[in-house]
Amino acid sequence: MAIIRPMRLADLKEVVKIEEASFPRPWSANAFITQMANDASICLVAEVDGHVVGYTIATQYVEVWHLLDLAVHEDYRRRYIATELLEQILELCGQEAHRGYTLEVRKSNRGAIKMYEGFGFICTGLRKAYYSDNGEDALIMWKDSEDMLA
Ligand SMILES: CC(C)(COP(=O)(O)OP(=O)(O)OC[C@H]1O[C@@H](n2cnc3c(N)ncnc32)[C@H](O)[C@@H]1OP(=O)(O)O)[C@@H](O)C(=O)NCCC(=O)NCCS
Repeated sequence: MAIIRPMRLADLKEVVKIEEASFPRPWSANAFITQMANDASICLVAEVDGHVVGYTIATQYVEVWHLLDLAVHEDYRRRYIATELLEQILELCGQEAHRGYTLEVRKSNRGAIKMYEGFGFICTGLRKAYYSDNGEDALIMWKDSEDMLA
């Protein structure tokens, strides 16, 4: 079971290591610092035995929460750590008035798409050639806020 808590500057070394192992065009440490300093952003990590094994970041922009980043260390995948991170961040985001949540995901990232669908995200569009490393399309996914459904 992971502990989910806010990201701290001291986590950055482990966070950036996971980021670099997880994405072809990883965020820099500065990109994480910018989000941590942004009042409109929520940055969480998952900690196991004193080590960061995953993280997620969301930012609110024009009444919509944008899920910007989510990754889990390779050795800790398929243990529901991303699920725990998503549950927590959606709960925190849900405490502020908003219209919903959106994210972009590589069309080929079937595992992540399946996970987001499990959280109620649906595919609402496509950004052609969104990823500059290989020209891959991004799926745009959306989930209404609970308030919208009430
Ligand atoms: C995507 C990622 C965050 C998932 O993290 P995780 O902790 O392994 O995910 P979970 O264990 O919480 O998975 C929950 C469910 O999502 C789906 N899922 C997750 N990874 C999957 C995979 N590789 N293949 C198929 N389904 C997958 C499954 O339905 C899974 O439930 P199940 O294990 O009961 O079948 C992780 O694989 C990762 O860091 N990938 C690289 C970075 C990335 O792609 N981030 C998302 C960018 S949009």
